[in-house]
Amino acid sequence: MQYFTTTSKASRRAVDCVIIGIYERGKLGAGASDIDAASKGEIQRLIKSGDLSSKLGSCSVLNGVSGVRASRVAVVGLGKVNAFGAKQFTTAITAALRTVSRTKSKSVLNSLTLETATDANVYYLARHTAQSAASVLYQFTQMKSGRKPAASSLREVGVAVSSKGDAAKAKRGCEHGDAIGSGMSLAKDLGNLPANVCTPTYLARTAQKMARENKNLQTRVLSEAEMKRLGMGSLLSVSAGSDQPGKMIVMQYKGTTRQKPIVLIGKGVTFDTGGISLKPGAGMDEMKYDMCGAAGVIGTMATIAKLKLAVNVNVIVPTVENMPSGGATKPGDIVTSMSGQTIEVLNTDAEGRLILCDALTYSRRFKPETVIDVATLTGACVIALGHHRSGVMSNNDKLANSIVAAGADSNDLAWQLPLDDEYAQLLKSNFADMANIGGRSAGAITAGCFLAKFADGLNWAHLDIAGTAWASGKQKGASGRPVPLLSEFVLDRCGALP
Ligand code: BES
Ligand code: MN
Ligand code: ZN
Repeated sequence: MQYFTTTSKASRRAVDCVIIGIYERGKLGAGASDIDAASKGEIQRLIKSGDLSSKLGSCSVLNGVSGVRASRVAVVGLGKVNAFGAKQFTTAITAALRTVSRTKSKSVLNSLTLETATDANVYYLARHTAQSAASVLYQFTQMKSGRKPAASSLREVGVAVSSKGDAAKAKRGCEHGDAIGSGMSLAKDLGNLPANVCTPTYLARTAQKMARENKNLQTRVLSEAEMKRLGMGSLLSVSAGSDQPGKMIVMQYKGTTRQKPIVLIGKGVTFDTGGISLKPGAGMDEMKYDMCGAAGVIGTMATIAKLKLAVNVNVIVPTVENMPSGGATKPGDIVTSMSGQTIEVLNTDAEGRLILCDALTYSRRFKPETVIDVATLTGACVIALGHHRSGVMSNNDKLANSIVAAGADSNDLAWQLPLDDEYAQLLKSNFADMANIGGRSAGAITAGCFLAKFADGLNWAHLDIAGTAWASGKQKGASGRPVPLLSEFVLDRCGALP
């Protein structure tokens, strides 16, 4: 997709479609006022006739509006004037681009970026425009045979701005939004692929391919034999029941000299049957998404590499398949983690923490500035926060706050949960240093407390994305989250935000 910015009036730009917005009670957006004036009141007339809805996100396309150089005008509802902000902007532009993508338009101009009543600056509006374009055009068709559905004709998206200074900010916003959009598309592809294709080996090959394509990026893959030598008995106990070999994928992006890296760890359970603590059958197919933490950090790495950011980021993906078999770990088995701490595996379905703990210990060799692990870790987090916000837990409230803020700014929301010692007590074991489960209550938090035992002395946070990484039902599919949040966090760290 190509992006451009323009200071010319919406009515004067010869594109295939221009997007304008109307508020409730007949108030016109900035671009809509211009089109209305150029067409001698056509928009006002249509609003009066009741044919144009101002409901947030409803969209209609007008053809051949007189006095306007664009062949089409897409009119999108913006809702109440006073309620219009960055979130409403994203809803409106996504709906408008979805409608426009179904027309034959090759080029489209977004005039909603001229709205002044928003709480966000033009950088974020441009970024959300580009990100929305990527998400509207995303299709997952690689597993279908026969004729693929036609791709959209859309090739070029423009952002209307009112000054040269805004144009520079908008240009950067488009660039960042485009890169975040492609990171999300990669994360969605990896998530949506079935577990018989997207195995630990497939994830490793994907990371190796990325390294070949980006000169700042290196990938190493640890085999089970190497992990055994490193003492990763916890990770290997999850992999034990599977015919697919487990791996530890290590990606290193060097965009600057002499800076401690940010380490992003992603849970890569390519399928979670529960192991011997077998999950019930209904909906088990969705456990192909149990590698969405891995997909999220690999997708974020793609965004960082595409933007050639001046930052050092390492990605670690512990990746395994959790299967029952004659060789599988059994409830009650005690394993020794790379840290030396022993773990009583009371439930083999609490496997995510068992692979993450060894990745956390491994991350220490990079002397990281910050470590963030990302995981579809607990059903309990879905009960606590639903599908709207990811859970954040940390041993440093400042870090937790900056992650929650990055989520708010990127419209990829998260919320902090506490890690009080009272919760950690629930992990006590009669036989080992700790158990891998803490009982029914506060399940998302006890999982966080388990990880915290391996993060001592690290500036560490944990993101539970079990509710946000994919959607179920008719809309089943990976969401690409938390690529926007993590990208925002990294962009902020390297001073790339305006
Ligand atoms: N991958 C699951 C968590 C999960 C469940 C994510 C449902 C999304 C939807 C994880 O490995 C798991 O099975 N967790 C258990 C932990 C329990 C045994 C303490 C859970 O949440 O039930
Ligand atoms: Mn599980
Ligand atoms: Zn799992």
